[in-house]
Amino acid sequence: IGGAVALGAGGLGTYYATARRDTVGSIDFDTALVIPPLAESSVSAAGARVFTLGIQAGETAFKPGPATRTWGVNGSYLGPTIRARRGEQVELAVHNGLDQETSLHWHGMHLPAAMDGGPHQPIAPGATWEPRWAVDQRAATLWYHPHVHGETADHTYRGLTGLFVIDDEDAEALNLPSTYGVDDVPMIVQDRAFDGDNQFTERIPLAGSLGVIGDEILVNGTLGPYFDVTTRLVRLRLLNASNARPYNFGFSDERTFSLIASDGGLLAGPWETDRLYLSPGERAEIVVAFEPGESIELRSYPSPEYGGALSGRLDGFEDRLDICRFRAADTLSDDAELPAALADAPDLAGATVAAERSFSLAANKINGLSMEMDRIDFGVREGTVEVWEVVNDNGYLHNFHVHDVQFQVLTVDGEQPPPHLSGWKDTVLLVPDRRYRLALHFTDHTDPDMPYMFHCHLLQHEDDGMMGQFVVLGEGEKVGTVPARHDHS
Ligand code: C2O
Ligand code: CU
Repeated sequence: IGGAVALGAGGLGTYYATARRDTVGSIDFDTALVIPPLAESSVSAAGARVFTLGIQAGETAFKPGPATRTWGVNGSYLGPTIRARRGEQVELAVHNGLDQETSLHWHGMHLPAAMDGGPHQPIAPGATWEPRWAVDQRAATLWYHPHVHGETADHTYRGLTGLFVIDDEDAEALNLPSTYGVDDVPMIVQDRAFDGDNQFTERIPLAGSLGVIGDEILVNGTLGPYFDVTTRLVRLRLLNASNARPYNFGFSDERTFSLIASDGGLLAGPWETDRLYLSPGERAEIVVAFEPGESIELRSYPSPEYGGALSGRLDGFEDRLDICRFRAADTLSDDAELPAALADAPDLAGATVAAERSFSLAANKINGLSMEMDRIDFGVREGTVEVWEVVNDNGYLHNFHVHDVQFQVLTVDGEQPPPHLSGWKDTVLLVPDRRYRLALHFTDHTDPDMPYMFHCHLLQHEDDGMMGQFVVLGEGEKVGTVPARHDHS
C-alpha cells in the first residue's frame, strides 16, 4: 500500500512520511502505456475547428482491487489530446458535468484573457463554457488543467489534465518523428498517493505545504507502463503534470537523448544530454534512439545540481523513480530524421525594454502579496517587451509561470541560460537565490479589465496565494477593474 509524503514548509523545513515506499524494483511494467485519444473535432460553417469536452466524475482502475474515484474529460481520467494548427480558429464547448464549479485553462496558449480558463472563467455545474480564439503561435506541446482559485491543486489531482498540441508547417517540414502514439508519444507524468482502498489520498492539511507528494508514478494514467518501440527514433512529449514533484529524467543505461523542444516549441537545435529536469507544468520534447530488441527504462534520478540546492527540505524528491519501460522490436523502421537546425532561436535579447519588474517568491506570496481576485497588480503595454527578474527568496521549491506569452530566459545569475532554457518557455524552475531575467513580448489581446495570471506552478502554493494578476493595455488604456463574478451558462 502506497503512502503519502507531505513536505511541510512554513520556514521550518520539516516533513513527515507515512509508509513511504521506494517504487524502485516494485514496478512490474506489465501494463501497456495508455495513449490519450486525439480529441475529435468538426469544422464549423465559418471554418473554425470545434471541440466538445465533457468534464465528468468517474472511476478508474489503476491497479488490482477497488477502482479509484477520479475526474476526467470525455472519460474517467485525464482528457483527450487536442490538436490544432497555427492559423486555425478553435472553438471549444466545455461542459461541466461535476456537481461543483471548475474551469479549464489552456496552459501556454497565447489568447484573449477572457478565453484563458483561469480563475475568472469558472464553469458552473451543468453549464457549458464556449471559449474561442485564433491559434497564433509556434508548434508546441501545451496542456490544459483546472484553474479555480483555491481549488486548482485538488481538481488537477483528481485527473483533469490533457495535452493541447499545436502544429505548424515549419515543424512538419523537419521530418521529425510525428506519428501520434507510434513514434510521437505523449507522456503525462504524475505522482499519486493511493490509500488502502485504492483511492487517491486527498489534500493533506498542512498549511504552507507543497501539497500531496505521491509515491507512485502514472504515465497517461498508466501505473507501471511499458511502451513497444517500433521505430529507431521516438519523440517523447514529456509533461510534468504533478502538483509538486519535479522529475530529473534519464534512462537506465545512461544513454543520451536529444532535447528538441521546450514549453513554447522547438529549440534552435537539438541538445544532447543524459538528464532533463522538469518542474511541475513544464514540458519537453525529446528524441531517443533505440537499438533493435533492447529494453530500457525511463526514470527520474536524484539531481546533484537542483537537489543539492534544495536538499534537506526535499528528501522525498530524491528517490530514484521508475517511470516507463521501452521495449524495442527486433526490427525498427527508420524514416524520421533529427535535423541539426530546428527553428529560429528566441530573439528578444536585443529588444527595446519598455519596463522592468522584479518578482520575489517566498512564503506563498509574490512580492509580499497574496493573490486577490479583484486586485490587478499591473498593466503591460501592448506591443512592448518587458524584462522581469524573478527570484526564489525562501529556498523552497518554486517555479514561475506566466499566462498569455512564451518568454525568453535572458540570463540566470547574469550568465547565458543553459541549453534547456534557451528556447521559448512559459514556466521556469527557480533554483533558490538565482536571478532569472525573462524577456516577455506582449503583442495583442488587450483588455484592461480581464487579467492574466503569473504564479508558482506548485499547485498548492498557487492555491495558497503565490499568484498575481496583470492586464495587457492598449494605447492610452489604464488598468481597469475585474468585473464582478459572472457565471457562464
Ligand atoms: Cu498551468 Cu496558471 O497554469
Ligand atoms: Cu512555490
